[in-house]
Amino acid sequence: MIYSKIIGTGSYLPDKVLTNFDLEKIVDTSDEWIVSRSGIRERHIAAEGQMTSDLALQASLKAIEAAGIAADDIDLIIVATTSPDKIFPSTACLLQDKLGITNGGAAFDLQAVCGGFVYAINSADLYIRAGQAKTVLVVGAEVMSRMLDWTDRATCVLFGDGAGAVIMQASDAPGVLAAKLHSDGRHHALLRADGNICNGEVQGDPFIKMEGQAVFKFAVTALSRVVDEVMLEAGMKSEDIDWLVPHQANIRIIEATAKKLGLSMDNVVVTLSHHGNTSSASIPLALDVAVREGRIKAGQNILLEAIGGGFTWGAVLLRW
Ligand code: UT7
Repeated sequence: MIYSKIIGTGSYLPDKVLTNFDLEKIVDTSDEWIVSRSGIRERHIAAEGQMTSDLALQASLKAIEAAGIAADDIDLIIVATTSPDKIFPSTACLLQDKLGITNGGAAFDLQAVCGGFVYAINSADLYIRAGQAKTVLVVGAEVMSRMLDWTDRATCVLFGDGAGAVIMQASDAPGVLAAKLHSDGRHHALLRADGNICNGEVQGDPFIKMEGQAVFKFAVTALSRVVDEVMLEAGMKSEDIDWLVPHQANIRIIEATAKKLGLSMDNVVVTLSHHGNTSSASIPLALDVAVREGRIKAGQNILLEAIGGGFTWGAVLLRW
């Protein structure tokens, strides 16, 4: 039986840090409000001209090094992003070029907003198990700051820029054990950006609009249901889970999901306070931190979950 396994992780945050105290000077907000309502203390902001593919490149180079492979071994690149460099070509193709990969492997972007990374891991797993790819670079990368209305305190304090990457490879040993994805387009208006940005140029209204409370309520219910679904599929109980690596959007959503799972917060990887909501990049950013700190170890069971605009949501259960 062929499995897909993560064999290396990497992440990257831009140098510029914007703290809650910096935001107090821009909009009518406070560090106390942001921390108590979301858990966020600071976020990183891409430099002028620094594109999603640049962030993706830095995270990918670290993942490639950690996996001990050559870039040219990668025969599929999937970039989960909602802030691509251009309308086309895909950020994945731009990343392939920046990595110097000329082996003719496939590359494409996947758009499921904050749900993007679990969607991308599921896709990579299916390509590998079908025998259509052997070594896949899966990236979540975002420059969310260019989609923020810096006069809207309800959204501009929440998001940040960053990238995370993993290398997935075909393996005889169990890796991805179960995955479940969902979407419900009836809720498309609750979290959206109507226009877009191309090469840094604003087209239409590019700013994120969010009905925060409605998203919050939906997220708590949907995430606890989907983690139950993957555990059922894998024949596992919450006591079998070593680490929950959730989408890093709001500490209260993360705590509610852990509580419904019956999981101690000691078994949850939380990096949100340092980078805010980085959309599709948040899970691989958190994963990389936990791996490099030695918290995630071989043989452990890791549960990933995320929800984003659409709504799109899902969970992946994997053996490290
Ligand atoms: O990644 C995709 C998924 N996205 C999410 O998971 C986000 C889900 N939603 C949330 O995380 C939370 O709903 C927020 C953090 C966005 C907001 O927290 P909340 O507890 O739902 O606050 P709220 O929207 O109900 O606002 C409470 C009050 C309001 O004032 P009034 O009407 O009570 O006077 C807001 O105007 O807080 C006010 N407010 C702020 N005050 C200070 C909203 N934003 C701010 C702010 N600073 N930045």
